[in-house]
Amino acid sequence: MKTGELELRDDFVKQTYSPIHEMKQNTDMCRPGDGAADEGVEEVVRMLNRPLRIGGRSIPKRLFLAPLSKLGNVAFRELLATFGGFGLLFSEMSGSRSVASGGGPAYSGFMWRPAELSHLVCQLYGDDPEVMARAAVRVVEAGFMGVDVNFGCSVAAVCRHNCGAALLKDPVRAAGIVSAIRRAVSAPLFVKFRTGWKDDPEAAVEMARRFADAGADALTFHPRVAPDRRTRQPKWAYIGRVKSAVDIPVIGNGNVFDIKDCARMVALTGCDGVAIGRLAVARPWTFAQWTNGFQPDVGIYRRCALDLIDLLLKHFDPQTAIRRYYRFAAYYAGNFKFGHMFHSRVHRAKSIDALRDAVAAFFEAPPEIVARPNMTMLR
Ligand SMILES: Cc1cc2nc3c(=O)[nH]c(=O)nc-3n(C[C@H](O)[C@H](O)[C@H](O)COP(=O)(O)O)c2cc1C
Repeated sequence: MKTGELELRDDFVKQTYSPIHEMKQNTDMCRPGDGAADEGVEEVVRMLNRPLRIGGRSIPKRLFLAPLSKLGNVAFRELLATFGGFGLLFSEMSGSRSVASGGGPAYSGFMWRPAELSHLVCQLYGDDPEVMARAAVRVVEAGFMGVDVNFGCSVAAVCRHNCGAALLKDPVRAAGIVSAIRRAVSAPLFVKFRTGWKDDPEAAVEMARRFADAGADALTFHPRVAPDRRTRQPKWAYIGRVKSAVDIPVIGNGNVFDIKDCARMVALTGCDGVAIGRLAVARPWTFAQWTNGFQPDVGIYRRCALDLIDLLLKHFDPQTAIRRYYRFAAYYAGNFKFGHMFHSRVHRAKSIDALRDAVAAFFEAPPEIVARPNMTMLR
């Protein structure tokens, strides 16, 4: 595979203005656009296709779907599966109390297709080590490949209950949750976390060591402070610090929006794998494009947009399907120069038929596609 091929294959994509090009460069952050990044593309493609051992299991590829609440649902994952190319998929987060007590799957996000279980990791959030351990047992009994613990979510609804990133303020309790799960299950155990509540890489390094000592098999690290949802640049250099501090695999995450970003993150940090979130929503074929040389054709944007409606309807009731689609549309809109039109058409649709009509109407005149999904849409 030749350098740059992966980018250029999408040759129907028009280069249009993207605000990312005007962003101020952060010294801790690598931006695409210099020669080194292009050189790294072939290398990163090889790296992404090298198996990675996690918790005694061999993962065939090192490109993963990051956990995405309401977006990384069973229907969206079925869409991803039609393309393939990923190593693991992380589920949307599920509440440990609901999972442990056998609560309703649609509410908790604790849903799956049997065909995906071998490469699907269930993400749990919660503050009680025993409840988290019971939930993890249920996850493993259901047949998931592994369990992921959420110490990254900083939304108020989660942090208010002392879950997600809030637990980074209490390192002893956070590590206690990991060791309780470790004692309860032998399946691969992942931890996803952020820098912390202060911009201090040493705190992240310290947390990483605690998680590894508590029995985590791999870490996914998103180098942003907790109050920052996604407005500032993630500090990729911190991923390198975390990677150097532990002996278990570290998966880098945050603002990878094209293959060059991916190459630069890996080159800068030495991370063992990369998890992509918003880009995967905007372009569900990204995994296949990067790791398998899949070539998207001009009709892919329309097809994916329509296919997801059918898949959501297969797994959810119509009202839930529409709500999930609204969320998806916010990110998918980032593909188009006039993405707000896609977004507003979709949001006006109140029934499945109206949704299908709205999506079909948007694609009647081929929309102008931006080279990199629009950052302002992807927050
Ligand atoms: C809509 C949305 C929902 C998210 N939900 C979760 C979640 O459930 N659990 C989690 O650990 N992180 C969650 N995240 C954070 C992502 O996993 C990821 O860390 C973040 O989006 C940065 O990666 P990206 O730049 O590739 O999108 C969410 C992010 C977004 C945008």
